[in-house]
Formats: sequence, C-alpha cells, structure tokens
Amino acid sequence: MEITLTGITTTGTPHLGNYVGAILPAIEASHRHDVQSFYFLADYHALVKCQDPALVHRSRLEVAATWLALGLDVENVIFYAQTDIPEILELTWMLTCVTAKGLMNRAHAYKAAVAENVADPDKDPDKGVTMGLFCYPILMAADILMFKATKVPVGKDQVQHLEMARDIATRFNYFYGEHFVLPEAVVDERAAVLVGLDGRKMSKSYGNTIPLFEPEKALRKLIMRIKTNSLPPEAPKDPETCTLFQIYQAFATVEEAAVIRDRYAQGIGWGEMKQILFEYLNARLSEPRQRYHELLAKPAYVEQVLKQGAARAREYSVPFLAELRRAVGIRPLEK
Ligand code: TRP
Repeated sequence: MEITLTGITTTGTPHLGNYVGAILPAIEASHRHDVQSFYFLADYHALVKCQDPALVHRSRLEVAATWLALGLDVENVIFYAQTDIPEILELTWMLTCVTAKGLMNRAHAYKAAVAENVADPDKDPDKGVTMGLFCYPILMAADILMFKATKVPVGKDQVQHLEMARDIATRFNYFYGEHFVLPEAVVDERAAVLVGLDGRKMSKSYGNTIPLFEPEKALRKLIMRIKTNSLPPEAPKDPETCTLFQIYQAFATVEEAAVIRDRYAQGIGWGEMKQILFEYLNARLSEPRQRYHELLAKPAYVEQVLKQGAARAREYSVPFLAELRRAVGIRPLEK
C-alpha cells in the first residue's frame, strides 16, 4: 500500500496561500482509502525557525484547528504532533551518525544563510546558523523514514530534502540492512501558488498574507488592500496577471472562473471585482471559520485528537525503533 506523509511547520497562522497550495489537496487526499496517510504538526521544526514560545504554542493550536475545521478525515488519516512521537528524536540521532557533513553543507537553506553572511565582510560566515538549521534535513528524514513513507507531497523548495532523505536512508541500509524504504517527493505542479497583498508570493516571511479564517470585516479590509493597476473601470483587463483573479480562480470552479474571465475582457472595475472576491471567499469560508473558532475555544479537545493520532502513529514507531536499535547494536547485554 502507498504511504503518504507530510508535515506542516507550526510557525504562523494558516493563510489563503497555504490553503490552496497544500491544505486543500491534502484534505481531499485524506478521504482516499487506497493509501495510508500520515499528517503531522512539525513542531520540532518550528523551534528551528522560531524562538517565541507563545507563537509556537499558538500556532500548534491554530494549525491543528484549521485542518480539523476544514474536514480532515482523522479516522482515516493519522494526524499527530511530531513532538508526541519521542522515537523521532532517537531516530534523528541514529541518522545523524550516518549522515555526511558534506551532504548537509549542500542544503539550500543553509547555503543561502551563509551566502548572505559572506556578502557582508564584517560577518562570520556562520552567523545566526544554529545546528538546528544545519541538521534540519536529518530531522525531516527521520519524520519520513520512520513511517516508511513512499510518497511525500511537498513544495518545490523541499525536493532537495527528499533527495537527502533518500541518501541518508541508503547509507543506513548499507551499514545495517534494508530497514528503510526510499521515499519520493510528489510536487503538485497544478497546486496554485498564490500571490499576496503586495504582488509577491503569499508568504508569512513577506508579511503579505491573508489569514484563512480572518473575521468577515477584516477579510474584507485585506481584500480591499490587494494591489491592482491603475486601469479605469471600463478598460479590458488581463486576468492572468491579476492577484484578485488568481485568488478567485484558486477557489472557484472552472465555469465560475470562465465567467469572471469574460468580465475582465469586457472591463470590470477593481472595486467591483474586490467585492465579488470578498463575497465569494466569505461564503466559502464562513462555515469552516465558525468551526475553527469553536475549536480554538476547545483546545483540550484538539489536544485529545492529536494524542489519539500519536497513539496510532506510535503503533508503528515504537516497534520500528526497537528493530533499529537492535540493528545498530543497542540491545540487552545478555543476548
Ligand atoms: N520542512 C517542511 C516544510 O518546511 C515541513 C516538514 C517537516 C515536512 N518534516 C516533514 C514535510 C516531512 C514533509 C515530510 O514545509
């Protein structure tokens, strides 16, 4: 059986870009019965990027509540927090001990951090680089290899991490026998990449996001702030280069998008289009938004769902780690 697994780093509030790029396809896939899926909060990964405990804590709840509010099928998929699976960290160490430092030197995220430092002659090349950042791909490999995932849906920026996971698994298998399955990255080329308020990619690092479950009034305000060009209302407009249309299209059916595309060709005022987009999104999001706020008010319930998921995940990780310990020579002395 195919095993898919993906992690969501808990360092912010889920936004429209996360929704169309990752959450929506994953929730749809969560209803499939021909695959076993593992979805988890990558909260150990969050510590690499974020030293603000309140934010990490809040984001764990927000991310879990978002997925539940949108209808993640938690009976079918195994949904848990990484930090509830202690075996992950022990596996991380075993993998660390077979990972070549040179392999980690080549990681894009680490290289980018060093390159930025080198550009400034007053800075040490490794300024601000923690061992967490440097070893991040090993932790990610442990997440994946622990559950013998065959398919890992990720964004393009994560493809290198999957190659590293395969490298690390191969090295371990070479020393200790065939314990790990080699995972493959699945990059959904159709998954929309949304543009943010300022016209750049919607991303929490640019601070240009529209949070998914913003209250109605605030959602309206944010949509009114989206950057548009200065064409007059009656001028024909290009939908393909327009943020408003792109967001609309990511949510709408093909037919609905075609109708709006026609309106662009005829000329549509930005004020009217913003109103259309707001009403459309608001209608789509109001129900899950209400469920989301109910869940935020019931953190003990969310915690319990995660704990149940962790118990199911540990049915795999506990015996597998025992096997791996024996494989590397950590076993009772009398045998
Ligand atoms: N590094 C991933 C990201 O930033 C999150 C992640 C952690 C992940 N562990 C994973 C994704 C395992 C897929 C599989 O998006």
